[in-house]
Amino acid sequence: MASPNLPHSILVVGSGGREHALVTALRKSPSKPSIICCPGNAGIERDVPCFNVAADDIPGLLTLIKEKKIDFVVVGPEVPLSLGLVDQLDVLGIPAFGPKANGARLEASKTYTKEILLKYNIPTAKTAFFTDADKACAYLDKNPAPIVIKADGLAAGKGVVVAATTEEAKKAAKDLLKLNPHNSGASTGNSILIEACLTGEETSLLVVVSGKDYIILPTAQDHKRIGENDTGPNTGGMGAYSPASVVTEDLLKQIDKTIVGPSVHAIASEGIDFRGILFIGIMLTADGPKVLEYNTRFGDPETQVVLPRIKTDLLIILWAAAHKNLSSVTLEVSPDPALCVVVAAKGYPNSYPKGDGITLPPLEALPPRSYVLHAGTALNSNKELVTSGGRVLGVVSMAGTLKEAATKAYWICDQIACTSKVFRRDIGARQLKRE
Ligand code: AMP
Ligand code: GLY
Repeated sequence: MASPNLPHSILVVGSGGREHALVTALRKSPSKPSIICCPGNAGIERDVPCFNVAADDIPGLLTLIKEKKIDFVVVGPEVPLSLGLVDQLDVLGIPAFGPKANGARLEASKTYTKEILLKYNIPTAKTAFFTDADKACAYLDKNPAPIVIKADGLAAGKGVVVAATTEEAKKAAKDLLKLNPHNSGASTGNSILIEACLTGEETSLLVVVSGKDYIILPTAQDHKRIGENDTGPNTGGMGAYSPASVVTEDLLKQIDKTIVGPSVHAIASEGIDFRGILFIGIMLTADGPKVLEYNTRFGDPETQVVLPRIKTDLLIILWAAAHKNLSSVTLEVSPDPALCVVVAAKGYPNSYPKGDGITLPPLEALPPRSYVLHAGTALNSNKELVTSGGRVLGVVSMAGTLKEAATKAYWICDQIACTSKVFRRDIGARQLKRE
């Protein structure tokens, strides 16, 4: 199918650093589309009009889309996807980037994903499925820690516990069985997976999928744990860099052959007409690359470092994917690395204060090829910039070398004034040590 002319009026759904990165990249499109965002944040609002409709308010979004005569919708987060936003847009004949609910199920149900991985022989960790705590505990007695317990449904990043001891694993199994995951229509009752603990380095692969066609975007590595040297609880991601040079050209070919190609084939074979991002979390084990999870949307903060490296007009890529015309797209990528440091509110990923004042360095003071993306920010009643979420800002720099990018990004982080500011000092450190 040939893509019709590029859209004039785009809605980006979401409010995080990922959506600010998407808006920033789409604004660069030479076709100069008009862009709005829902609900956005204080930084996105400086760039494009934002409307106060929550990302999971499907009727509210549909009303706004009709009112504003939107002709292309780019969906950031997973919840509206699994609530069927794209299915409803399809009925209205409005193109969207993001899968329908049957595709979003690959993120919304870990049990379903695991069934697909096993059915199509895609490498992943050995797994057992439970709905009963006693049976799960009996299994844990036979399969000692370290071991990984996962809730089946969407749990906003709180659904995975990498347990160091069997006692911790049993507690996690009981807790996660009681957890009422954000119900996306994906899980029927509470169930958990118990997985063998894989060791190695992780990489995030964002793949633009359009039916049987796909394009692998530049590689990235996230930093999931809250603390330096990868300590403490998992978070949504505390920083990222691209490329993940641990993924050599040969390794990428192997990943394409054993994981990406088979995954896209599996999805199409299951009758899913997937048009969006398949984000594959991969563990590079001594026994070869293995799938940790699928997400069905852009990663956050991976997107913040992947998009600046893409020289091709992002709008052309997303629009072609939505129209099953991806084979017409040639991806051009800058060789220069990008690095993003997430500035979070102290206490994240648990409870943290909101409403703390933020003072950013003036735009003209920022080093070249650097910018501050907003995530959990808002304007208070005095129109002052304040924190409103756990991950507050994403400081992104691009440079000729990763070291230079890190130096620039950390310089900016040090200039940001905010009493509750915390960030990891070691984003990219593993790669810098290798270099
Ligand atoms: P997931 O949401 O399934 O990607 O899990 C979140 C994080 O938990 C991953 O990025 C890994 O750091 C960790 N994790 C998940 N599954 C495993 C596993 N089988 N072995 C080791 N770590 C894992
Ligand atoms: N950074 C991991 C994610 O977006 O799920």
